[in-house]
Amino acid sequence: MTLSSLALSRAAFSGSAAVREAAFPCAEFFPQENGFAPLVLRTQIGSDALARELLLDAALGSARRARTSELFRTGRLPAHGLALSATHGGELVGTVRLWNVDAGGRPALLLGPLAVSQTHRSLGIGAALMNMAIARARALGHDAILLVGDAAYYQRFGFSPEPTKALDLPGPVERARFLALELAPGALAGAAGLVIPTGTMERPLGRARPRAQIRPRAKRAQAA
Ligand SMILES: CC(C)(COP(=O)(O)OP(=O)(O)OC[C@H]1O[C@@H](n2cnc3c(N)ncnc32)[C@H](O)[C@@H]1OP(=O)(O)O)[C@@H](O)C(=O)NCCC(=O)NCCS
Repeated sequence: MTLSSLALSRAAFSGSAAVREAAFPCAEFFPQENGFAPLVLRTQIGSDALARELLLDAALGSARRARTSELFRTGRLPAHGLALSATHGGELVGTVRLWNVDAGGRPALLLGPLAVSQTHRSLGIGAALMNMAIARARALGHDAILLVGDAAYYQRFGFSPEPTKALDLPGPVERARFLALELAPGALAGAAGLVIPTGTMERPLGRARPRAQIRPRAKRAQAA
């Protein structure tokens, strides 16, 4: 399926599926013209992981794992309700995830990575993922979102370097790319110091209870 055959257009994204403020659906459908499959934005599921990682490697290169922001993700779960996939015809074509952090004493979210597959860029999918993520974060009661990225892209969603000027990350970062959006006015006013991860730790795959914890119960069952 080639880009020219998709007939996706920016117009198709506007107004067809407004993100609700108070509560959010787990998926939103953006119908396409001419019988093409709808674009679907939805909560990420476990089986998205392989396609998501391949998309991120293609979009950002494997060096992405050495970035400072990666320290906030390794071994942790994304913030509740804030891992999103964009799919088209069943193919994962976009991803964004947000992570719980403490920003100099203020609870906040760190957004990233955001990526859209090369074949689906400049169709508004990145913006649709950002708008859905911001609306969900607001609906879930979060006060601020931080990210490291190009201001030229993220300023359209209200991000700027101003609120992070007294914050530090545990690694090198270009100040002009360290951005934030306050969902509650003044949420980061006076926030200073290190941003640290606070998200729930992932449970290692396949970790079972030790045998010593299981045996006594089995013996009791035999005795009965
Ligand atoms: C950044 C990215 C997610 C945007 O996705 P997308 O679906 O193409 O975004 P949209 O359709 O909403 O917006 C496209 C517009 O943003 C512009 N844009 C994309 N990346 C940009 C950047 N880094 N700086 C400034 N503008 C940018 C495009 O040129 C395009 O402009 P146009 O509307 O004038 O054509 C996508 O280009 C991507 O995956 N890039 C590689 C990964 C990356 O850099 N991620 C961000 C860092 S975490």
